[in-house]
Amino acid sequence: MDTRKEIFLKDYKQPDYYFDTVDLTFSLGEEQTVVSSNITVYPRLEGAAASSPPPPLVLDGVNLKLVSIKIDGKELQKEDYHLDARHLTLLSPPDTARFTLQIVTEIYPQKNTSLDGLYKSSGNFVTQCEAEGFRKITYYQDRPDIMAKYTCRVEGDKTLYPVLLSNGNLVEQGDLEGGKHYAVWEDPHKKPCYLFALVAGNLQSRDDSFVTRSGRKVALRIWTPAKDVPKTVHAMYTLKAAMKWDEDVFGLEYDLDLFNIVAVPDFNMGAMENKSLNIFNSVLVLASPETASDANYAAILRVIGHEYFHNWTGNRVTCRDWFQLSLKEGLTVFRDQEFSSDMGSRAVQRIQDVLTLRELQFPQDAGPIAHPVRPHSYIKMDNFYTPTVYRKGAEVVRMYKTLLGSQGFRRGMDLYFKRHDGQAVTCEDFYAAMRDANNADFANFLLWYSQAGTPTVKVTSFYNSEAKTYSLKFSQELPPTPGQALKEPMLIPVAVGLLGSNGKDMPLTSVYHDGMLQVVSTDGKPAYTTVLQIKKKEEEFLFSDISERPVPSLLRGYSAPIRLDSDLTDADLCFLLAHDSDEFNRWEAGQVLARNMMLSLVADFQQNKPLALKADFVHGVRSLLSDGSLDKEFIAKAIDLPGVGEIMDMMDIADPDAVHAVRSFIRKHLATELKAEFLKTVENNRSSEPYVFDHSNMSRRSLKNIALSYLTSLEDAQITELALNEYKTATNMTDQFAALTALVQYPGKTRDDVLADFYGKWKHDFLVVNKWFGLQAVSDIPGNVENVRKLLKHPAFDLRNPNKVRSLIGRFRESPVNFHAKDGSGYKFLGEIVLQLDKINPKGAARMVSAFSRWRRYDETRQTLAKAQLEMIVSTNGISENVFEIASKSLA
Ligand code: PHE
Ligand code: ZN
Repeated sequence: MDTRKEIFLKDYKQPDYYFDTVDLTFSLGEEQTVVSSNITVYPRLEGAAASSPPPPLVLDGVNLKLVSIKIDGKELQKEDYHLDARHLTLLSPPDTARFTLQIVTEIYPQKNTSLDGLYKSSGNFVTQCEAEGFRKITYYQDRPDIMAKYTCRVEGDKTLYPVLLSNGNLVEQGDLEGGKHYAVWEDPHKKPCYLFALVAGNLQSRDDSFVTRSGRKVALRIWTPAKDVPKTVHAMYTLKAAMKWDEDVFGLEYDLDLFNIVAVPDFNMGAMENKSLNIFNSVLVLASPETASDANYAAILRVIGHEYFHNWTGNRVTCRDWFQLSLKEGLTVFRDQEFSSDMGSRAVQRIQDVLTLRELQFPQDAGPIAHPVRPHSYIKMDNFYTPTVYRKGAEVVRMYKTLLGSQGFRRGMDLYFKRHDGQAVTCEDFYAAMRDANNADFANFLLWYSQAGTPTVKVTSFYNSEAKTYSLKFSQELPPTPGQALKEPMLIPVAVGLLGSNGKDMPLTSVYHDGMLQVVSTDGKPAYTTVLQIKKKEEEFLFSDISERPVPSLLRGYSAPIRLDSDLTDADLCFLLAHDSDEFNRWEAGQVLARNMMLSLVADFQQNKPLALKADFVHGVRSLLSDGSLDKEFIAKAIDLPGVGEIMDMMDIADPDAVHAVRSFIRKHLATELKAEFLKTVENNRSSEPYVFDHSNMSRRSLKNIALSYLTSLEDAQITELALNEYKTATNMTDQFAALTALVQYPGKTRDDVLADFYGKWKHDFLVVNKWFGLQAVSDIPGNVENVRKLLKHPAFDLRNPNKVRSLIGRFRESPVNFHAKDGSGYKFLGEIVLQLDKINPKGAARMVSAFSRWRRYDETRQTLAKAQLEMIVSTNGISENVFEIASKSLA
């Protein structure tokens, strides 16, 4: 029997039964855990509308031992139900308006390596229920449109598990016989089961409180093993900032008297928004200046914010079904991006978010596992926690804001909560709230949810010096994706400004479009940026009163997730790089220049021509480096070259060796030409002050560290000395790790020594050791696959821990040289590991296998080698549905 069943959005049906209250009791044990569930059930249809006899009640359940089932207190007999590996079907539920269902199951968390359902991490019990983990705890209708009020009683050994937590408020606790104790938790809010959580263990908390704007005092607790409590300062600060921000920006207040965060070392994802009991991967909670980098601090800020924001966007209003995942994730990512912007630099945040979109989402959207923001089908929902659902989904939400303005967007959000608080809804419901709150005309915007692929928008411009008009012609093209050959044009907001020869924005008064005049100015004041709405395949906009040929600044702030193909010349781009008032586009102009240059050098390299760098480019980087008026983090971002992946993504046949060679060539050449400037940048941006995580200090460190990394590409003894000195004198992990990274670019004794030194210093701290694994895994030194194989056997490595897997295996896949090694050694390595990992943790294995999905992008030799691995994987007996879905779709 083929159990790999594909599930379709179009097949959604309302459930026949709803659950009203759910009372759970967990008796935690060292061998097994007994779960008793007591549910009040009512049919969706009653009286005349109901079918007779009542329909069967189908419950989900996986890896459970059924102990007993009772309906209204009466034990069911074998003929009353049907049990298979996935379902428990109650064949003839009573014909009453309400009945109670009591089910007792036995589960084995100690043996659960999937980290899904109830499992153990470092001796503590932890749950993870999204998306479909609750069915590994007890039989249930495991779907998000079943929302119920929960109580949870937890019983366990008092010494081993002194802390017993679940959702909501603690209503009772006490001692039991045999050294045990119990706690009873009650969550007053209805919730889907994916938001259920339980934690039991030996933990301690950092306690604080937050007073909401209506004056309620909320207790805040962050739980970790005792030794890590000092590392929760930043997380607590962030949590309070997030609570305040959501009140200020969205008018959203926290709705309970207690908010808990628990940090665990073994966790499949980043973190989970369980109602009032967020569970986090420890890397996203624990930080100290000595052990965590700026990037870690920033990630903690973003994710603590993200999970907290889910309380409204996800928990109070949840998803009707899993196809709607982006309803909560796209929206919540958008919210965390806005939060990070407000806490740091808006321009730099936007640059970072767009970089991530291009690095992770664009390739997905252009390959065999492309899917719309709202997928049409899946085999395993776990496989759809993707950059498309999260990141492109966030861009879709951002487009509403771009189209409606801040106030219009807020009106839409307010209406969304007013209409849907306490409900499980769809992406159309969100769209309708935005539309209705603003009387907006949103023709073909919904297609963003259903059509996969990244649109390309071509722009051509024409200036008429006699009529003083400037015309922009747009055409949009959406490439075919699996299952979607033909596409419709979508509504694409393109924010535009026009720069005059003085480098200033020209005032925009009116635009003609479709024979209609649109006034751009507001309150009589001219605008400097206007949002053009591209709705059809081709559109023309004509600006009037334009006194000279402008340089257009197109897609300001990256107003839509598209590829822009404009007729700007290199001179125009240089002009924008120097003058654009839109900081994002200033950076983007530099990136377009760099991308074009890299692509042409790649062609030279492939034809064995000598490589040469244009003097203007060097000059451009020099002027950026010395521009004191610019934000330092902006400079650091602007002088960083586009990544290897981004350039490969733009080639007909991706050539990892050529792109790597070109990127290294440019880096080294820039370092040679600008050695003095880079040295000065390092000198001027050191600080002996204690570490502070704020924008100005982070900016300073990032500029210093990118300068250092350019310098070390020179392989010059004096520079190595300098970098070693930076390494030794660093007072925080950001600087120490940056120096280490710079030093290990090339093989040799220095590399070996400094890696050994770092390990020796930090072997007691698993999060730092993971950085050490990752740095070695991603290395481009030749033949590194052997080194990675050795590290697999390192005593600190463990295939059961997802962070370690991500550090060593995940990062290895990013090396153009070693993962894509032409002898196939990198592919073979990944293929072997995927099979091993699949036996332990299918979710994690499926994530690793996705690196093969773009195999068709490479030359024939690589194609054959990668395809062979995928074929080997799909033909292996007993592989999980997770891995099967990704591997087989990749081959299709
Ligand atoms: N819902 C989590 C988030 O905030 C992600 C997650 C999904 C975590 C599935 C665990 C399991 O994005
Ligand atoms: Zn989320």
